[in-house]
Amino acid sequence: MNNEVLQNIKTRRSIRKYKAEQIKEDELQAVLEAGTYAPSGRGMQSPLLVAVQDKAAMKQIVKMNAAVMGTDSNPYYDAPTVVLVFAPEDRTTWLEDGSCVLDTMMLAAHSIGLGSCWIHREREMFDTEEGKALMKQWGVPENYKGIGALALGYRDCPLPEAPERKDGRIVMV
Ligand SMILES: Cc1cc2nc3c(=O)[nH]c(=O)nc-3n(C[C@H](O)[C@H](O)[C@H](O)COP(=O)(O)O)c2cc1C
Repeated sequence: MNNEVLQNIKTRRSIRKYKAEQIKEDELQAVLEAGTYAPSGRGMQSPLLVAVQDKAAMKQIVKMNAAVMGTDSNPYYDAPTVVLVFAPEDRTTWLEDGSCVLDTMMLAAHSIGLGSCWIHREREMFDTEEGKALMKQWGVPENYKGIGALALGYRDCPLPEAPERKDGRIVMV
């Protein structure tokens, strides 16, 4: 069986080289809106999405993520937009809720021709005093935790091919 949605799922790949050119505002809004349509435990819609494009803020989160990773390189691969996802840890499904947002945004991005990559370490980044100060500045409540981020931009590389899917991962009962 095949259709446009299944094809989009199968051809989406993590992109790790981006053009410097910023994405269009309507493209960003489409990806963010898609993220808000992700499922959430008990339909609480609690994850918050922070889209970073401001150069100073970008420099700061790059430094924070690199510090957790222990590297000098940019963990967001110089993507011109990074969407940070937070959710309240007092909800039992906070991690799953935020993860659904990230996956939904990745598929939405690919469907409109944008490259994206899920980036890790936001929990550690926003558990620091510096991270908490940024959350306060952005209006993210204190009980929220960083879950992950989406690097977003125009791909500056060929679209990678999906590796073969591993056998034995589906069990029919
Ligand atoms: C929870 C999670 C964390 C990830 N963290 C990173 C990361 O920090 N940096 C990165 O380059 N890719 C990261 N990825 C992307 C994976 O490496 C990627 O999905 C995997 O290699 C499969 O490639 P594909 O997305 O092209 O299918 C992450 C993916 C997930 C689901």
